[in-house]
Amino acid sequence: MKQKPVIVVHGGAGTWQPERSGPGLEGVRRAAETGFEVLARGGSALDAVEEAVAVMEDDGAFNAGYGSSLTIDKRVEMEASIMDGKTLRAGAVGLLRDIRNPVRLARLVMEKTDHVFIVGEGAEKIAEVFGLGKRNPVSELRLTYWKRQMKALNERKFPLPKLAELAKAHPDVFSLETVGAVALDKEGNVAAATSTGGFPLKIPGRIGDSPLIGCGTYADNACGACSATGVGEVAIRLVLAKTVCNYMNRGKTAEEAVETAIRLVNTRLPDIYNSMGLIAVDTKGNIGAAHNSPNLCWAYMNNEMSEPKAALTARKIEGKL
Ligand code: GLY
Repeated sequence: MKQKPVIVVHGGAGTWQPERSGPGLEGVRRAAETGFEVLARGGSALDAVEEAVAVMEDDGAFNAGYGSSLTIDKRVEMEASIMDGKTLRAGAVGLLRDIRNPVRLARLVMEKTDHVFIVGEGAEKIAEVFGLGKRNPVSELRLTYWKRQMKALNERKFPLPKLAELAKAHPDVFSLETVGAVALDKEGNVAAATSTGGFPLKIPGRIGDSPLIGCGTYADNACGACSATGVGEVAIRLVLAKTVCNYMNRGKTAEEAVETAIRLVNTRLPDIYNSMGLIAVDTKGNIGAAHNSPNLCWAYMNNEMSEPKAALTARKIEGKL
């Protein structure tokens, strides 16, 4: 069936400070445009989401790829995933130190191995075998944030960082800004991809929702595709991306599905500050973007538009189910 292609991208939920809003909006615009170019020339939803996410991993404005947040011991551990709604194949990677584009490595795991999720040295070995580029992902901006985050941590004298509490007290330096994309192509196939540096000051070895299929990323041609951003532990506990797809499978539009899922977060996990943002596309080409965080940096483009539309908020949902 021929469909009207569409792409939706996010550059992260959280609190977008005024000084970073311009680069964030510009970054999601470029990502949506790049992904839509793939779709417009007849490319697959899978290629479109990979290219869109790679643009944001290269940007430096986001917490993914170059410019990833630092762990409590001042290192970067990146993670990403990608899923093809046509075949339900998926690939995911975690604990990456210096891979230039984690989303491309996730795709290699999906296409070149028998596995879905590979972390650390094993994943980096695959990157080496297939000649993926490397780069130091530590940016000056994140180093500055890390120092301010450590100060906030030390002032509160936690034996371990209670990150959600710190994020509430210091929204200026604890924004998450995971990136992601969902797309529908001309053939009616959907795909989703997500990439992140994870929660600032996370304990080394912590894995969030972004590389977990069903939590941060899900795509199924039976209903649609979803990418999540926000506090990973929330998305994991509610299997949030798959939950959004389940809502679409039962007949909700993409917009209704993401809004209902945010209401579910507000109902079941109401105490976690600033917790989530979601984007989705359904198989009819409807899009959705909703959040309970102050902001969601996002953009979309379809074939009726000459350029992407970007914003720092979507449907902000405060109510419960
Ligand atoms: N959603 C990103 C993370 O919690 O790692």
